[in-house]
Amino acid sequence: MRYRKLGSSDLEVSEISLGSWLTYSGGVEADATRACTEAAFDAGINFFDTANVYGRGAAETAWGEILSAHPRDSYILATKVCGQMSDDPADRGLSPAHIAQQIDASLTRLRTDYVDLYQAHRFDPSVPIEDTVEAFQKVVEQGKARYLGFSEWTPEQIQAAVDIGGPDLFVSSQPQYSLLWQAPEAEVFGLCSGNGISQIVWSPLAQGILTGKYKPGQPVPEGSRFASDTMAAAKDLVYSDEILAAVQRLVPIAEQAGMSMPTLALAWVLRRSEVASAITGASRPEQVHSNAAASGVELSADLLAAVDQALGDVPVTEPTLAPMAQAGVKHR
Ligand SMILES: NC(=O)c1ccc[n+]([C@@H]2O[C@H](COP(=O)([O-])OP(=O)(O)OC[C@H]3O[C@@H](n4cnc5c(N)ncnc54)[C@H](OP(=O)(O)O)[C@@H]3O)[C@@H](O)[C@H]2O)c1
Repeated sequence: MRYRKLGSSDLEVSEISLGSWLTYSGGVEADATRACTEAAFDAGINFFDTANVYGRGAAETAWGEILSAHPRDSYILATKVCGQMSDDPADRGLSPAHIAQQIDASLTRLRTDYVDLYQAHRFDPSVPIEDTVEAFQKVVEQGKARYLGFSEWTPEQIQAAVDIGGPDLFVSSQPQYSLLWQAPEAEVFGLCSGNGISQIVWSPLAQGILTGKYKPGQPVPEGSRFASDTMAAAKDLVYSDEILAAVQRLVPIAEQAGMSMPTLALAWVLRRSEVASAITGASRPEQVHSNAAASGVELSADLLAAVDQALGDVPVTEPTLAPMAQAGVKHR
């Protein structure tokens, strides 16, 4: 496993990291959660990403139990705040009161005194950006988080935060980024790298689609993520015969290069130096090992050109799937 510096921080994160959305908050049984997490340590993964809202606390609780058996300085722990935590519509967002309450709740569930990275899961356009920035700064001053990040912020929102907090306030940006979702390259990558902010990218395998296991016109494989009823809404957004056919055109390219499809997809996001880590999910320990193998794999210019040609018009480059991120910025 190779490691990359996270923005202007002193953290060295593994190129492949493990996330706990869906999989460790109900989707995957406790034994598999433990097996995948331990497989990550075995594979040299030192970076773990969760959020208060995953399973409304359940994912943090599961990792609190598993990770606390490891020395605290042997892993880099990231969590997030913003998502809806209860049926109370006010129990969400980035107000100073909500951030102050949620960091304490996350630390309790994670069984630790601090997280390495505390991220805004989304932007909250109902709260003045100055108030949000001050609330995050306070979390760091109190020693409850070492560094700060954000997820799915627009260039306008990122610039507003940098203008207030300075270039070193945030060290990471967490956008969706994969062979099928290339939109952040256009503006977010450059703006962030000019301000000491790395990308840590989510769903780099497009939720498993880029492994090639879903075939156009064929039933969804049993036991896979898109076989689950709870994923019906997400499936409608990302799963079509056109996309699955394009992914199948990548299979011979990966084979000819002597690499697996997960390796091709993960090495593709890691080809960009702006990306510090690819945050993968896994429902089985074998997947963790297979994904970790992508670290350090270089893709030739010829291979990259063949991939572009095979995908054709399929990659989404406009942020149409992230409507929440389109709201503006409120000031005091
Ligand atoms: N900031 C945000 O808004 C946001 C949003 C989403 C996710 N995230 C973060 O990103 C993390 C990763 O997201 P993701 O789980 O969607 O990532 P992903 O790596 O694109 O997809 C992971 C899923 O693909 C399948 N898979 C993984 N490796 C495989 C392999 N080698 N062979 C076959 N199938 C494989 C598994 O599902 P099955 O085995 O069940 O098919 C696995 O759960 C999350 O846990 C979370 O930490 C953040």
